[in-house]
Amino acid sequence: RYDRRNRPCRYDIDLFTPRFMSIFESLVPSDEEISKQKQLLTTLSRLINKEWPNSKLYVYGSCANSFGFSNSDIDLCLSIDNTEMSKVDIILKLADILHAGNLQNIQALTRARVPIVKLMDPNTGLSCDICVNNLLAVVNTKLLRDYSQIDKRVRPLAFLVKHWAKSRCVNETYQGTLSSYAYVIMCIHFLQSQRILPCLQGMEPTYYATVDNNVYAFFDQVDKLSGFGAQRKDTVSRLLWAFFHYWAYKHNYTKDVISIRTGRTISKNMKDWTRRVGNDRHLICIEDPFETSHDLGRVVDSRSIWTLREEFERAAEIMQYDPIPNVTLFEPH
Ligand code: GTP
Ligand code: MG
Repeated sequence: RYDRRNRPCRYDIDLFTPRFMSIFESLVPSDEEISKQKQLLTTLSRLINKEWPNSKLYVYGSCANSFGFSNSDIDLCLSIDNTEMSKVDIILKLADILHAGNLQNIQALTRARVPIVKLMDPNTGLSCDICVNNLLAVVNTKLLRDYSQIDKRVRPLAFLVKHWAKSRCVNETYQGTLSSYAYVIMCIHFLQSQRILPCLQGMEPTYYATVDNNVYAFFDQVDKLSGFGAQRKDTVSRLLWAFFHYWAYKHNYTKDVISIRTGRTISKNMKDWTRRVGNDRHLICIEDPFETSHDLGRVVDSRSIWTLREEFERAAEIMQYDPIPNVTLFEPH
């Protein structure tokens, strides 16, 4: 059988970069949308601070990690030090506060794995989810944003991968495929392997965050790293080709865990991720950069792993042979 693993990239790959870049640009939120997001954050912070003066509202997820598409919902996290109230009580109280502030479509989801309040703001038309004291998500959001600022190819690559995953319906955790957060981490891992990104958690820390008595640290003076990947001249379309090639033919699904915390792959054996434990099957292993016992691939089951791998292969073949990969790649499933 033809060995696809060592197959060279098509000779004309770089010609497609301008077309992929214009898709990226069409997905980025406008300045107007960003100022609406800020406006909503200010409105909600004022409202909530009246009731809880010592609380603070943080943006996390795609609106703050720089990998957000236009028209995405805003993920907010309320940090509040209130020992008398349970998380569920805080969620219910928060829903009351929002009601009084004339926000709409308010729903308190108290039984979810991460309890949240959903709402829609009639002034900006934006929707958002607010969770409580989920500060590790705020820290991982900063890590992703810091990585995005080191090299100008990071955002286009991750946007295109997310856009592909959404188009092909493999961005649905409830159906056993991967979260956007997992895809961004896969891109960072891949760029680390190409020496286009460093490993921020492997460097002398300049940033520290304490969450639930654990200290998380990494190097965050990313302006000092702006030339890091400059030696590597690969264009965005070449990187996209190589990303899919890696997940289709090169990644060792039986043995390896990808880890942006260490900047390399580590063995499943070392993490004891070799067998199914409860619902965690570890069929594709993506270590969370901070919660290292947490496999972001845990949602993938024995059926959806093949859906995913077939999609990676389809994408790799399109990037290799298709006359219009910038169109075919994103054709709906
Ligand atoms: P889109 O909404 O699809 O554009 O992307 P998103 O960046 O908002 O991604 P997602 O909805 O997957 O996750 C939102 C945020 O929640 C992420 O940026 C993380 O900060 C956090 N998060 C999501 N999944 C996990 C997880 O499994 N573990 C942890 N610790 N944090 C997570
Ligand atoms: Mg989101």
